[in-house]
Amino acid sequence: MNSALIQKYNIPGPRYTSYPTVPFWDQKGISAADWKDSLVHCFNESNDKEGISLYIHLPFCESLCTFCACHKKITKQHDVETPYIDALLKEWDLYCDLFPKKPKIKEIHLGGGTPTFFSMEHLSLLITGILKKAEKAADFEFSFEGHPNHTSREQLQGLYDLGFKRNSFGIQDYDEVVQKAINRVQGFDQVQKVHDWSREIGYTSISHDLIFGLPFQNEKSIRDTIKKTVSLRPDRIAYYSYAHVPWIKGVGQRGFEDADLPKDEVKRHLYELGKQLFFENGYVEIGMDHFSLPSDNLFQAMKNKKLHRNFMGYTAGKTALMIGLGMSSISDSWYAFAQNEKSVTDYTARVNRGEFPVFRGHLLNDQDLIIRRHILNLMCNLETEWSYGLDESTKKGIVKRLESLIDDGLLDITDNKVKVKEEGRMFVRNICMAFDLRLIENKPETRIFSMTI
Ligand SMILES: C[S@@+](CC[C@H](N)C(=O)[O-])C[C@H]1O[C@@H](n2cnc3c(N)ncnc32)[C@H](O)[C@@H]1O
Ligand code: SF4
Repeated sequence: MNSALIQKYNIPGPRYTSYPTVPFWDQKGISAADWKDSLVHCFNESNDKEGISLYIHLPFCESLCTFCACHKKITKQHDVETPYIDALLKEWDLYCDLFPKKPKIKEIHLGGGTPTFFSMEHLSLLITGILKKAEKAADFEFSFEGHPNHTSREQLQGLYDLGFKRNSFGIQDYDEVVQKAINRVQGFDQVQKVHDWSREIGYTSISHDLIFGLPFQNEKSIRDTIKKTVSLRPDRIAYYSYAHVPWIKGVGQRGFEDADLPKDEVKRHLYELGKQLFFENGYVEIGMDHFSLPSDNLFQAMKNKKLHRNFMGYTAGKTALMIGLGMSSISDSWYAFAQNEKSVTDYTARVNRGEFPVFRGHLLNDQDLIIRRHILNLMCNLETEWSYGLDESTKKGIVKRLESLIDDGLLDITDNKVKVKEEGRMFVRNICMAFDLRLIENKPETRIFSMTI
């Protein structure tokens, strides 16, 4: 890969799990009335047709991994479980009271933090409590994130019996030096154990999360990590670019120095190497950051242009309405976004007062909705059609901003579409930035995003 291109395009930029991206949501937020209206509107339009998705954030972890950019709370005290599950079920009640009929659930995803921090008894109370007020769509998909060091066979079996057929495990890297630096020591044996249990029990899609760009990683450590990973044949592999955001995560991202991180070019090489090794082992690339076996439904969705991207990343099961329960969760009614309080205490207090625990949000205007569609098309299908709603002057501005990317051979523009070339795939975030009117209007002066490459 051309290192000049990497230097040119490695700039701070969004990961586009939403448009507008969170830092450019309306400063004045969203009123409770507008948020509720948008929810009911979206529910009425989509519940019967495609159902709704639920993202449930379970924030607790027993120890801090020093690379982690997720919203989590570190504790070894398991008495936090009961009040938190109570709050989640109360929050769900608020939504169910608002909807005119029983929601039809297409997807549930338990994310974290570490969902498997919770005992099986509590996870079971949570899921049965949710389903009491809902029905399952015929083709429902339930999934959860598990930490290999904190997932028992009992939890895997219990969740499977509740309808969970997909899971993902955080691996990151198998190298001992890297693991020590990120405070996450976990052996291959442990991963193999939870992976094999999942297969024996009947999970149909198992995903492993890896990260490139972590401190002390090099070609040898990545080769070894990938060799071990593909030996287990996970159905999906997420190969994330390490997002180094110490200005947001503060003391959480420590235990190593900036100088311990691989330099831009080395990091890019690690990505290229990973990609080549996944291809050699029969995996295909999905959108950005993801690889899957051709048998996995993520690949089928990509082939049929049915891939969708939301705050959980890529998904095969698109629903317009995604409700996020729990501290820091973001909900998406297609017409609006809303984010919950970011501390467990504030979140629980507001739910216990019978309020939606939303602390910020954004109501999309007509132009946001058009740009949102284009960015989603680019992130999922690597192409988008001009015919979708843009006025001439906005289109002209976008074309102008894309000029250098075209000159660099990263995409093609025709009268009716923008198409990302294979060489441009790793620059898709930069390509989306040319469409991102909110980013362009706001010209952020401080670093709020991780680097694009
Ligand atoms: C919530 S965590 C996974 C669940 C579980 N807590 C675990 O650690 O195994 C989801 C994934 O986000 C990814 N992740 C977290 N922080 C990241 C960062 N700074 N850059 C890139 N990926 C990150 C990791 O791959 C992690 O496995
Ligand atoms: S990577 Fe997972 S276990 Fe580690 S701190 Fe983040 S959420 Fe918790």
